[in-house]
Amino acid sequence: MMLPLATAADSTWWKNAVIYEIYPRSFADTNGDGIGDLNGITQHLDYLESLGVDAIWITPFYPSPQVDFGYDISDYQAIDPQYGTMADFDRLVAEAAKHHIRIVDDLVLNHTSDKHAWFMESRSSRTNPKADWYIWSDGKPNRQPPNNWLSLFGHSAWQWDTPRNQLYYHEFYKEQPDLNWRNQQVHDAVDNMIRFWMKKGVAGFRLDAITTLFEDPKLRDEPTLDIKTAFGDNAVNRQYTDNLPEVHDVLRELRRVTNEMPGRVLIGETYLPNVGELAKMYGKNNDELQLPMDTQLGFLNKLSASEFRAKLQDAETKLNGNPPLFVFSNHDNVRSWNRYGDGVHDEAIAKLIATLLLTPRCVAMMYYGEELGMTNNNPTSVSQVKDPIGIVGWPKEIGRDGERTPMQWNADTNAGFSTSHETWLPVAPNYKTKNVQTESKQTDSMLNYYKTLIRLRKQNAALRDGEFVMIDEKNSSVLSYLRKNGGDIVLVALNCTATPQTVHFDLAAQGVKSTNLKTLLSSFQASGASTSSLTLPAFGAYVGEAGK
Ligand code: GLC
Ligand code: CA
Repeated sequence: MMLPLATAADSTWWKNAVIYEIYPRSFADTNGDGIGDLNGITQHLDYLESLGVDAIWITPFYPSPQVDFGYDISDYQAIDPQYGTMADFDRLVAEAAKHHIRIVDDLVLNHTSDKHAWFMESRSSRTNPKADWYIWSDGKPNRQPPNNWLSLFGHSAWQWDTPRNQLYYHEFYKEQPDLNWRNQQVHDAVDNMIRFWMKKGVAGFRLDAITTLFEDPKLRDEPTLDIKTAFGDNAVNRQYTDNLPEVHDVLRELRRVTNEMPGRVLIGETYLPNVGELAKMYGKNNDELQLPMDTQLGFLNKLSASEFRAKLQDAETKLNGNPPLFVFSNHDNVRSWNRYGDGVHDEAIAKLIATLLLTPRCVAMMYYGEELGMTNNNPTSVSQVKDPIGIVGWPKEIGRDGERTPMQWNADTNAGFSTSHETWLPVAPNYKTKNVQTESKQTDSMLNYYKTLIRLRKQNAALRDGEFVMIDEKNSSVLSYLRKNGGDIVLVALNCTATPQTVHFDLAAQGVKSTNLKTLLSSFQASGASTSSLTLPAFGAYVGEAGK
């Protein structure tokens, strides 16, 4: 088998990579059951290569009862038959390498499925060899939980279980019991599992819910907040169940394990309150995660030049020179099209967001279908909901189905996703126009905009390796910055308002004497652009070479 990571020379391949998230259930179905599969990914490697992505992160494809659509794993070292076989996986890795695409696995370490052999053994008695692999408590009398800890997916995080006659802790669904990371055997089992996937040629791991590995051993009550959650619970401040300092010991350990083979990257699902906490995830000696997800920029959820600027500056100055990992969309959040769109200039705004994701000094993580302008297709009644949190939380919490709908390949039945009469989630109605085949033929489509951005990021030295310099910092309407590689300077200007804006830049201090701008890409007709006068229409995005 051809391994994608043969040399040490490319061991930092991820430093300015584009990582594309695939939700395998929804990408492409090759066996006609209405559910995507691994062969569906392999079948579309040409497309992914033409888009220009460096790696694909595939959300969990391991055997699972699918309560949380794969995030409840019942065997870490096998493939769910719904998604294919281990031979299919090996073929995907090998074929992807031929397309210069690396594979990133999703590692769910906070919890397993309640059907995992480890949990079945753990729950069987208080004395079995795995009795201490999960978080068990006697609780209070009458089977009451020991404290007020809440599941992120609603209600108490404790579940009564027989025959132990104890409660176990679950941060997420009750079918997802939390592993006990204070037990060394859990570490050893996980480390070996990681080695198994590395030997298969996996280039990195996205660590699911990684900040929640530890809980307070004294099981103290969380402080309560004076608000209700979407599930109607009294909200708590998660100081005893999230982001405990012990997490960093595990991150260092995981880094030691992944360092056993060159070029492996650790990506973290790190929803954190501020950039200071984010910086800690890289490790004091840069010995933890290479790429903790920066949720500050992409989940700002409003178009504000000043606020985007502040977040970009934070990432530039407060992460000790490490590359930030920017992300605007994933399988847990409403698609950026809907979160940032104003209903009038949606496509321009989506192009602006794409530019903001792909032109700073960063690693860019994108979600399948973003490149097409895929939109949320939300359920309209609870009877349609597949994601359990949408069933428990309806109508305040409608679940995540809307952002997980099938990839839109063409204008045919099921958008070319599947030949089944029914797909696991309905295809979004806009597939007739928003799809790979149609957009490939339109020069100004979202798809071609993304392709050009990604190509520029690779081929233009300033966009690839250049330093990041903020300019026109007082402008509250237009966000502008440079990427600078020696004398090569690329200017990016993003109008974050619904009114046209004209900007002027003096780049003399940057060593640029002429006011010429050579347009590389813009979301509008940018004829006559120069640094002395650049007019951007509503939400216009501009990328050009200065002094050329
Ligand atoms: C992460 C995943 C999410 C999942 C949860 C529990 O947040 O991204 O989809 O439900 O972890 O595993
Ligand atoms: Ca299938």
